[in-house]
Amino acid sequence: MNHKPVEGFSKLTKQGKIDWIVNEYLEGNEEFQTILKQYWNENPQLQKLHEEFSENTISNFYMPYGIAPNFLIDGKLLALPMAVEESSVVAAASKAAKFWLDKGGFKTTIINTKKLGHTHFIIDVEPHKLQHFFNFKLKQKLLEATEDITRNMRNRGGGILNIRLIDKTAEMENYYQLKASFDTVDSMGANFINSCLEQFGKTLREEVSKDEDFTSEEKNSLQIVMNILSNFTPDCIVRAEVSCKIDELNDDSGISNEEFATKFKRAVTIAEIEPFRATTHNKGIMNGVDAVVIATGNDFRATEACAHAYAAKDGKYTSLTHCTIDDGVFRFWIDLPISVGVVGGLTNLHPLVKFSLALLGKPSAQELMSILAVSGLAQNFGALRSLVTTGIQKGHMKMHLFNILNQMGATEEEKQHFVTYFKDKTVSHHEVISEFNRIRSSQN
Ligand code: MEV
Repeated sequence: MNHKPVEGFSKLTKQGKIDWIVNEYLEGNEEFQTILKQYWNENPQLQKLHEEFSENTISNFYMPYGIAPNFLIDGKLLALPMAVEESSVVAAASKAAKFWLDKGGFKTTIINTKKLGHTHFIIDVEPHKLQHFFNFKLKQKLLEATEDITRNMRNRGGGILNIRLIDKTAEMENYYQLKASFDTVDSMGANFINSCLEQFGKTLREEVSKDEDFTSEEKNSLQIVMNILSNFTPDCIVRAEVSCKIDELNDDSGISNEEFATKFKRAVTIAEIEPFRATTHNKGIMNGVDAVVIATGNDFRATEACAHAYAAKDGKYTSLTHCTIDDGVFRFWIDLPISVGVVGGLTNLHPLVKFSLALLGKPSAQELMSILAVSGLAQNFGALRSLVTTGIQKGHMKMHLFNILNQMGATEEEKQHFVTYFKDKTVSHHEVISEFNRIRSSQN
């Protein structure tokens, strides 16, 4: 069926939008109206709050919100909030947290907290002349012109750290950047950075047009291409690590501690040298990171983009985690570049985000960076531990069992039967179906 475009969709009421969608795409089927409406919150204010986070909202999309307890991080015992739909992520986090609990837990170090943004522009000027203009005239003007925007941030201990002129003309004709670094303290700072950069663009235009050292051709050649923060923040980075004597590893999979440590380290090395494996390895890390990023109201697209750019920073995509075995000590760590906030954005608006931050003891942005790196490291530890011993399907399918049973419409009693049935066996889709059919036919 060919669909018609719609004019003014955003101006329709919520019911109007639903009617249009259901009639145009879903053959007017009332069932789809019901599906959308059953996710509306019965508290109208809460519903409105969620609708106003975005545009053209017609329903809410639920995600499970779970807790992974027993995380000992820099001496503090925390329970991590995790919003994630993939079964076994929270279980793996909890298991890894418990594993490291009596081995000193996780230790973290903030390596740096610098964020970056650029004004990208084109100008047909001799590079030395532009550099001179930047050093002796423009830089100071950029700082002065953004004083109003940066005042509050400066009062909180942050602001613009530095601005540099970058010559990119070797890569594209007449292309330059104003590259600025920022400290945004407890906020993620995207709006702050972008506002500063947009002002840089305006000031650059004004100062070039006024400057007597530029010819009119040079002035006319200026084009501000864009002013935007970079989500790649290699200087906003945290390290999280665990370590213990090999004798203390005590893995319960039946292999010796030495064998476990060796197999584990080898799996990390494979992710370091093989991009196909590194992608899955890092995806597993981001299972842990994103779940906490979402639960704390942060932007998981930004954290994903940054992590993967960092993993490829040396020209070859590699692992975000590393492992060594030296003098009988097993050490496993992650260097995670991540830019997050605990003020601004959704943090004061979304009730569950408020809950998450309260649960974490109202962390600073730096403490949240640490928690996120730990969550990623723990998740990777859990995945590798399973991969090099039992394989992941055992744990994964156990958690997935309920998804399969729900799809088949199993009753609570039947679900209990399956829990017992698979107690000592690996769950497989095929076996669930055949056992389900067997018990259903024996009931008839
Ligand atoms: C699944 O979401 C993540 C894993 O594939 C990660 C990994 O292989 O390391 C289990």
